[in-house]
Amino acid sequence: MKRSVLLLLAAVWLPVCAAAQTPAPRPNAGMLYWVRCASCHGIEGKGDGEYAGLLSPRPRDFTTGRYKFRTTETGSLPTDEDLARSITDGLHGSSMPGWRGVLSAEQVQALVEQVKSFSPRFASEQPRPIAMGPEPPSTPQAIEAGRGVYEKLKCAACHGTDGRGASAIARDLKDDWGRPTRATNLDEPWAFRGGSGVRDIFLRFRTGMNGTPMPSFIDAASESELWQLASYVKSIGRKPLWEMKGDEVAAFYRARDEEDRKDPVKRGEYIANISGCVQCHSPYREDNTMIEELKLAGGQRFRITPFGDFVAYNLTSDKETGLGDWTDEQIKTFVTTGVRRDGSRMLPFPMPWPNFAHMSASDLDALVAFLRSLPPVSNRIPPPQAPNIFSYLAGKFRMLILHEDQPLYMFPGNAGSWTDGARP
Ligand code: HEC
Ligand code: HEC
Ligand code: HEC
Repeated sequence: MKRSVLLLLAAVWLPVCAAAQTPAPRPNAGMLYWVRCASCHGIEGKGDGEYAGLLSPRPRDFTTGRYKFRTTETGSLPTDEDLARSITDGLHGSSMPGWRGVLSAEQVQALVEQVKSFSPRFASEQPRPIAMGPEPPSTPQAIEAGRGVYEKLKCAACHGTDGRGASAIARDLKDDWGRPTRATNLDEPWAFRGGSGVRDIFLRFRTGMNGTPMPSFIDAASESELWQLASYVKSIGRKPLWEMKGDEVAAFYRARDEEDRKDPVKRGEYIANISGCVQCHSPYREDNTMIEELKLAGGQRFRITPFGDFVAYNLTSDKETGLGDWTDEQIKTFVTTGVRRDGSRMLPFPMPWPNFAHMSASDLDALVAFLRSLPPVSNRIPPPQAPNIFSYLAGKFRMLILHEDQPLYMFPGNAGSWTDGARP
């Protein structure tokens, strides 16, 4: 009897002890990466996962060892803690999710090693952490001094005076991979990817953001000046819309609207971009890059069977071939009703003028102000061309009998008269 009790105890106890002594299995980093990260960052860490093409900014290419969010000198590799922080907290304002609560600290550490293994630089170089004193208190004097540092370091060249104003932000920047990028709107701290604390902000311009146009400013100012600047940047952050009450939201939009009105040309440029005037009224090369000299000078050819060929018009202020001798009213009438200067009405395609029919009077004024500001470029656009009778009948047959949509083709190159040496 006694023996059987002992045996029973042993039978229960021994496996428990054994389990306690076997080390927990190490996370399989390759597998974790494949399941959690590869769809964006790519199997080989090249930043070319299946979703990559849809994302802006694009997922990081790990093979170059260039990282934005570091506590290390400009150009240097990040520390393990830097990488772990980006993985755990995610990067706000981008599609990089935070994995806190999903992955254990051990799994994050395994992924840090996995991410590092994609770049040979980690085998031969050491990260160079910056020397950094404690964070000084953000006093009103420090904030005021920081405003001066903002001016001295010319942050406004990319971020706009006061770090804001949609039209003042530099948008035509490129990252090291040649992809378009834009400077961050500094009054929207919730979109700072590296965090919105004074220390986070300090680190961004102290270390620079490798791979982007955002440089390190350590040689341009003292450390204490950079801390003042961080306090200033923190102070210009505004309340997000989702924390505002109804009347605050209304006041916010009213103020934005008034600001926009002060610079109609900039506002008009914005409208011309979002309504597609720029995309249709500029010619492109075979590789889909714009022929910049002919931006908004027309020349892109559209073919819609069975209706014919239409070449987008020259919208620059050239008197002979562009809008130079159109009145403001003629431009507005055409954009909102499709009625040309000779009284004929354009088909509602390819130019979707019915979409512009309800553009507000002030937006139309701004659009015209912008078009007037375009320097003249001589590029004579041929009139629309009807198709020959056979393509016409074939097109009608496909449309009316086969119920196919009208096919639309866009041709590369400039169909206008512009000549400039060898270029198209
Ligand atoms: C939904 C897409 C997506 C997934 C999934 C994803 N990432 Fe990212 N990741 C991004 C994007 C986008 C960026 C670039 C953000 C930027 O440039 O500001 C990024 C950036 C990073 C960075 C660079 C930070 C720096 O300092 O430059 C690291 C490290 C990183 N991701 C690790 C991971 C790991 C590890 C996983 C898997 C656990 C993962 N990511 C999963 C989209 C993703
Ligand atoms: C040459 C243009 C340029 C200059 C000059 C510049 N920045 Fe930037 N800045 C950028 C770009 C581009 C980004 C966005 C980088 C990215 O995420 O890809 C950025 C991002 C930032 C961010 C957001 C970081 C985050 O966590 O997302 C802060 C804060 C910032 N800049 C502050 C400053 C301050 C302060 C100055 C002046 C000392 C300055 N910048 C000067 C181009 C510039
Ligand atoms: C989807 C492409 C597309 C978009 C978007 C577009 N256009 Fe056009 N536009 C055309 C084409 C094609 C023509 C030439 C049509 C023709 O000759 O019948 C044209 C013609 C014009 C004309 C000249 C009309 C004439 O007398 O021949 C003006 C002015 C014009 N567009 C202004 C604009 C403005 C301003 C915008 C932005 C608000 C705009 N377009 C957006 C394609 C476009």
